[in-house]
Amino acid sequence: MNTVNSVQALRAAVAEARRAGKRIGLVPTMGNLHSGHIQLVTRAAEHADFIVATIFVNPLQFGANEDLASYPRTLTADQEKLQQAGCHLLFTPTVEEMYPNGMGEQTRVSVPGVSEGLCGSSRPGHFEGVATVVSKLFNMAQPDVAVFGEKDFQQLAVIRAMVRDLNMPIQIIGEPTVRAADGLALSSRNGYLSDEQRAVAPALYRELQRVAAALQGGDNAFEPLLNESARQLESAGLRVDYLEVREATSLRPATADDRDLVVIAAAFLGKTRLIDNLHLKR
Ligand code: PAF
Repeated sequence: MNTVNSVQALRAAVAEARRAGKRIGLVPTMGNLHSGHIQLVTRAAEHADFIVATIFVNPLQFGANEDLASYPRTLTADQEKLQQAGCHLLFTPTVEEMYPNGMGEQTRVSVPGVSEGLCGSSRPGHFEGVATVVSKLFNMAQPDVAVFGEKDFQQLAVIRAMVRDLNMPIQIIGEPTVRAADGLALSSRNGYLSDEQRAVAPALYRELQRVAAALQGGDNAFEPLLNESARQLESAGLRVDYLEVREATSLRPATADDRDLVVIAAAFLGKTRLIDNLHLKR
């Protein structure tokens, strides 16, 4: 696996793969890779023959009081994992390479509707930063297919809407969340948790399961269900940012008639913000 950090070198390597008749698969990441990320590479390899992973901690998607400076950067370990997973090319641009004219006057991509509410309310500007960097990565690598984790359910909805609205000829694949044995969704931010917090964290998934099971059983009293789960989470020591039932494609608040649902949540454990979701059809 080669690692390149310029757009020019990325384009040259992709062009060579294309000349050899290969289909290009892209896996954008911010690094500090865990087995959830490796699963994205494995899935990409089922749909493409030349796999490009990217590692870029994108300042444009972090709020002023968020963890941009402390976000874990583990390039050597990440390179080893990607190499073992069969990745062909790693793109690790600097901030200057991605935003050569600075971020202030950078053209932005904003996706209305699905970006609003949930994480869009708690992290203003976040999805504009995500949509902007992902569209830049798409233009740089020009993949046939790109794979994203379903753990970031709203992010995936934003990317799907962007690709649809801007007629980008790229197949988007959502890969199911990879979980620890106790149910906690794997996340680079889990590393921020103390041992005590780590023991409490699976409560988030347990409550999603409880709500999902009730919905599956035909319960449409969303509010009391969610209130009870929020109470359980707060008494376990989490601070709930949001816990909601949404229609899974549009992300609008769910109604009793909806069949394709997502139970979606964000909660703080100390300073660490965890997100998770459970997608169900009924
Ligand atoms: O999910 C992530 O790691 C990031 O939001 C992404 C998609 C790589 C864009 O920076």
